[in-house]
Amino acid sequence: MPRDARGLTAYERSHIRLLCSEMADPRPTKLEVYRSESVARDYDQRWAGSIGAKRDARKAKALRRALTCLEEHSGERASSLLDIPCGTGRFSQLWDDREMHVFGADLALPMLHEAQNKYPDSTYLAADMAKLPFADNSVDVAICVRFMHLVRDPELRVCFLRELQRVSRLGAILDYRHGYTLRVWGRHLRYRVGMRAGKPANPSPRQVRAEIDQAGWKRLDWIAVHRAPLLSDKVLIPVVRADS
Ligand SMILES: C[S@@+](CC[C@H](N)C(=O)[O-])C[C@H]1O[C@@H](n2cnc3c(N)ncnc32)[C@H](O)[C@@H]1O
Repeated sequence: MPRDARGLTAYERSHIRLLCSEMADPRPTKLEVYRSESVARDYDQRWAGSIGAKRDARKAKALRRALTCLEEHSGERASSLLDIPCGTGRFSQLWDDREMHVFGADLALPMLHEAQNKYPDSTYLAADMAKLPFADNSVDVAICVRFMHLVRDPELRVCFLRELQRVSRLGAILDYRHGYTLRVWGRHLRYRVGMRAGKPANPSPRQVRAEIDQAGWKRLDWIAVHRAPLLSDKVLIPVVRADS
C-alpha cells in the first residue's frame, strides 16, 4: 500500500481526518452507525415494505446480471464469492441455486450477528475493507454493495478498490451512486437555494470511471439498477483487472 512522506497510507490519513472531524462534531459518521445494535436490528426494515422489496429485487437482479457478465468474460464459473460489506446478510441467499462458497464479511459485529442469526449455516467474519484477511486471489469474485457512497474520500475509495482487487481472482462487482440523475440535481438545487445543509457528495460518472481505472480495474459494463437511469443514482459495475 503506498505511503506518504509521514509513512501514512491513504486509509490512515483518512482516519486521522475522521477523528479530527469527530472531535469537532460528535455525530457518528455514516459508516460508524452500523456498530449500533439498534441500527443493525432495524436495518432489514428498509426492504420490508413493497417499495423496499422492489428496490431489493432490482438490486438482486442487477447483481446476477453483473456476475454473468464476469463469468462470460473469464469463460469460468465462479466457485467462491466474498460479499464485503455483507451487513445483515442481505444477499447471502441470492446465490443458493449455485454451487458456490459464499463468505460474508463486515466491520460491524452487530450487523454480522444479525446475519448469522438469520442464516446460521452461512460463513461470516469480521473484516476491515482496508486490509482484508484473505490471501491474494483467494476468492473468485468480490461484491461490494451499498458501501462506496458512504466513503466520502475519493482517495480512500481507491484504496478500498485496490484491496478488493488484491483478493479477487476473476473480478468484482462494484455498487456506486453517481451524481448524474434528476434526484441528485434536485438536491444540488435545494442546496443552492439554502433548503439543504450539505452539498451532495455523489461523484460524477466520469469520476467513478476515473477511480475505478486508477485502482487498476477494467470496466466490463455499467448496469443501471433502475429501469429509468435518470431517476436513480445506483449503478453496478462488473470489473476485471486492467491487465487481464
Ligand atoms: C449500508 S451497509 C451495506 C450492507 C450490505 N452490503 C447491504 O447492501 O445491505 C454498510 C456496511 O458497511 C460496513 N462497514 C463500514 N466500514 C467498513 C469497513 N472499513 N470494512 C468493512 N465493512 C465496513 C458497515 O458495518 C455496514 O454494515
